[in-house]
Amino acid sequence: MIVYDAASRLFTLHTQNTTYQMKADEYGVLLHTYYGPRLSGGDLSYLIRGADRGFSPNPNETGHCRTYSLDTLPQEYSTCGVGDFRLPSLEPELTDGSHACDLRYTGFERWNGKYALEGLPAFFGGAQWQTLVIFLEDAAAHLRVELYYGVLEEHDLITRAVRILNRGKSSVRLRQAASVCLDFQRGDLEMMTFNGRHAMERCPSRAPLRPGVQGVGSIRGASSHQHNPFVILCEPACGEDYGLCWGAMLLYSGNFQAQAERSQFEDSRLVMGINPYHFCYTLSPGESFITPEAALICSPCGFGQMSRQYHRAIRTHLLRDPMAGTQKPVLVNNWEATYFDFDSEALVRLAQAAAPLGIGLFVMDDGWFGRRDSDSSSLGDWQVNSEKLPGGLEALVSRIKALGMKFGIWVEPEMVNEDSALYQAHPDWALKIPGRPCARGRSQLVLDFSRQDVREHIYGALHAILASADITYVKWDMNRSLSDVWSAALPPERQGEVYHRYVLGVYELLERFRRDFPHVLIEGCSGGGGRFDAGMLYYTPQIWCSDNTDAIDRLRIQYGTSFCYPPCTMGAHVSAVPNDQNGRVTPLETRGIAAMSGAFGYEMDLSQTTPQDRAVIQKQTADYRAYYSLIHQGDYYRLSDPFRDPLTAWAHVSQDKREALVSAVYGTVHAAPPFTALKLKGLDPAQHYQINGAGSWPGDALMQAGYPLPLPWGDYQAFQLHLCAIEE
Ligand code: DGJ
Repeated sequence: MIVYDAASRLFTLHTQNTTYQMKADEYGVLLHTYYGPRLSGGDLSYLIRGADRGFSPNPNETGHCRTYSLDTLPQEYSTCGVGDFRLPSLEPELTDGSHACDLRYTGFERWNGKYALEGLPAFFGGAQWQTLVIFLEDAAAHLRVELYYGVLEEHDLITRAVRILNRGKSSVRLRQAASVCLDFQRGDLEMMTFNGRHAMERCPSRAPLRPGVQGVGSIRGASSHQHNPFVILCEPACGEDYGLCWGAMLLYSGNFQAQAERSQFEDSRLVMGINPYHFCYTLSPGESFITPEAALICSPCGFGQMSRQYHRAIRTHLLRDPMAGTQKPVLVNNWEATYFDFDSEALVRLAQAAAPLGIGLFVMDDGWFGRRDSDSSSLGDWQVNSEKLPGGLEALVSRIKALGMKFGIWVEPEMVNEDSALYQAHPDWALKIPGRPCARGRSQLVLDFSRQDVREHIYGALHAILASADITYVKWDMNRSLSDVWSAALPPERQGEVYHRYVLGVYELLERFRRDFPHVLIEGCSGGGGRFDAGMLYYTPQIWCSDNTDAIDRLRIQYGTSFCYPPCTMGAHVSAVPNDQNGRVTPLETRGIAAMSGAFGYEMDLSQTTPQDRAVIQKQTADYRAYYSLIHQGDYYRLSDPFRDPLTAWAHVSQDKREALVSAVYGTVHAAPPFTALKLKGLDPAQHYQINGAGSWPGDALMQAGYPLPLPWGDYQAFQLHLCAIEE
């Protein structure tokens, strides 16, 4: 609900459990007055006080009043150059060389429904949403800034985006244009970020804000394995099930920055958006720039509730899954089974072993095109290698289909190897700086996706592949960071647009494929989870969570990922042991339980398994199908912390709380272990539940006192408990 009070120019946004408020003051400065647990109403600007603060300037029109300063007031969208020295959100460079912007309120619009952002991913939906647009103006620079707010009451979600319009007669160069600025009148907050590396993504890290600026970001051209465009600010006492926290997520897959500043008077500011590094976007007169969308959730009861609200909002208003409403088949992918060394016969053998085990989708990974026998050649040459696949895709796909399976294919559209016909014909299509030898990553260069002609060529080549056979799934990979960023198609003064135009180009192509092949599910991938962000999820409703398929490392990766992204978006596979990434040996049952908590599949040579293993796999695929709606539509509860606790446990609970699937994995075993009683969450305290078909367990006892787990025997033992409410 959006409430406007004309007398005090006060905007109050209510969601089910939270309230967000801002106010245009007597000078037209838009102040942020409150974001927290839901309030009945009121004007929270009584909390804002002025004082004569040394070295904090006073706007000209305040005369000689020394107690009003932009430097000390909580701003809704911070600017620069006119007296606020904290983190700016907007930094324009004007033709006179000044870097300044002073925004004043001029009006607003609101309507039922959700705004859309052309060319950018955004939450969508109809009647459940309300939109507010607040207009601000810099009179000297002739800049109009439109602050967009989407309110999804049911899930406590507030989205934000900004449109900056040049209404002057000369060009403006945007040096920074953040998506969100959030001011807090307190300095005691902590910040949580999700960090890592290739094959070990999104490990949470939490620290109190210290005076000054701190944050995370990416200048790799992708959101990155290293830091995720999702951060949390929280009270020191906040935990999984209690305390106040604020999540901020950016729907963007390129360079981003999320910074928090604890400033001199113990207030805090969070600014998140496109990373200003090598960003400079020229707005000619009449042109506008739209920032990516940010999505905020405040939870008055801890991280768990915040995550569940994000999960629900993402599932219902961001994912566009062509297979929604049906059960996606369990897949088998040949990557770890064969790497590049395969032909049709080998693939069919793998599929033959998989089909009787309840696996319904065969995915052919890297190596099927050009002369791709290793990762140093052929990216860009999207023609089937007919030595490996005689008869082409059609022949292979019909053999796979004859086994009762669907077929999927791997592509890496954004890349080119120098050893390719494409690069020989169009060396200028790769990103590189004239006169400077460019860096290779995995022996490949990055295609300049800011260019329409490059995108057109790749679209044509891949369209031909997708149209040539019955393909229902595409794995869209991206295996290096962008360096040497320079486009042969843009003049020097527009090179600061390339990173962003690249991302827009990726989005445009993904959208075209979605439109032209509406039945095809596209899974995102970037060396695993190097581009696992909400921007990609809009186009690719599931993403390969990590190249690390070890079940125990995956528990940590999936735990960190779950703070923002729902389990149904996480591609998760059972692979062979010893594991190819860390050499660990884990029981097959454990690997199944870890992978089943996502978009489930296998990535191993199933023809090499024992009859006992095949029986286990058959049960796993049957269990996954039985628990599918719990895993894909249920609420997710983190029951322990794999970075701290000897046992990792989590639960998927149905919306009506009548059914739950609890999974628990022990770490390494020690003699004479203590008994563990696992406290469950999310159940109905008044209900009694059967567990794995037996007993009658009171919901409140299971949550307050726990369920006794069997003692572990051997490393990495895992258990699954299926709870069903008993009909009274
Ligand atoms: C990186 C992906 O994450 C892997 O799963 C696999 O598809 C390889 N690329 C193929 O080159």
